Amino acid sequence: MTGAARSRIYLATIAVLLLVIAAMAYKFIVVGSTQRGEDGRVAVVLEPGERALMLREMREFVAGLQLVEDALSRDDMPGVAKASRKLGAARAHDVPVAMMGKLPLEFKTMAFDTHRAFDAIAVDAEANGTPKHALAQLADVLQKCVACHATYQVTSSTGH
Ligand code: HEC
Repeated sequence: MTGAARSRIYLATIAVLLLVIAAMAYKFIVVGSTQRGEDGRVAVVLEPGERALMLREMREFVAGLQLVEDALSRDDMPGVAKASRKLGAARAHDVPVAMMGKLPLEFKTMAFDTHRAFDAIAVDAEANGTPKHALAQLADVLQKCVACHATYQVTSSTGH
C-alpha cells in the first residue's frame, strides 16, 4: 500500500470515529432515552431508582412550594428566600451523570429553568421584593411545571 493510500485510510477511520462520537454526544445530550407514552406524551425511560429520584425531587417541589406560600402569607420575605433557595439550581447537581444522559435536552432546559426561577425568587425576596412580586414569579414557575408535565412523563425500563 502506498503512503498516500494509507493516510487516506487513517483519515477515513478518524472521520468515522468522529461521526460515532458526534452521534453518541447527540444521543446523550440532545435526544436522551425516550419512547412514545400511551397518553401521547413523551415518556422518559429511566431505571426504577432514577425514576424514584426524579419523583422524589418533584414531591420536594410541592413541599417547598408549601413553605414558600406559608412564608408569603405572613409577608415573611426572608422565609420566602430560604424556602425558594432550597429548590434552586444547587439542587440540580444531585442528578447522576448517567441519568442526565437519558433526559432530552428540552427536558433538561425546562428543569434548569425551573430551578433557576426559584433562585431568582430568593434573590428578589432578599432584595426587598414585595410579596406580590414573589406571587407573580411563583405563577411563572408553576407555568413551567405545567408545561413540562404536559409534554413529558416518566417510565421505568422494567416497564413499571
Ligand atoms: C422538566 C420537566 C418537569 C418540570 C419542570 C416539573 N416536573 Fe414534575 N414531573 C415531571 C415528570 C416527567 C413527572 C412524572 C409524570 C408522569 O410520569 O406522569 C413529574 C411528576 C411530578 C409529581 C408526581 C410525583 C410522584 O411522586 O408521583 C409532582 C407532585 C410534580 N411533578 C410536581 C412538580 C412541580 C410542583 C413542579 C414545578 C415547581 C414540577 N413538577 C416541575 C417533570 C417535570
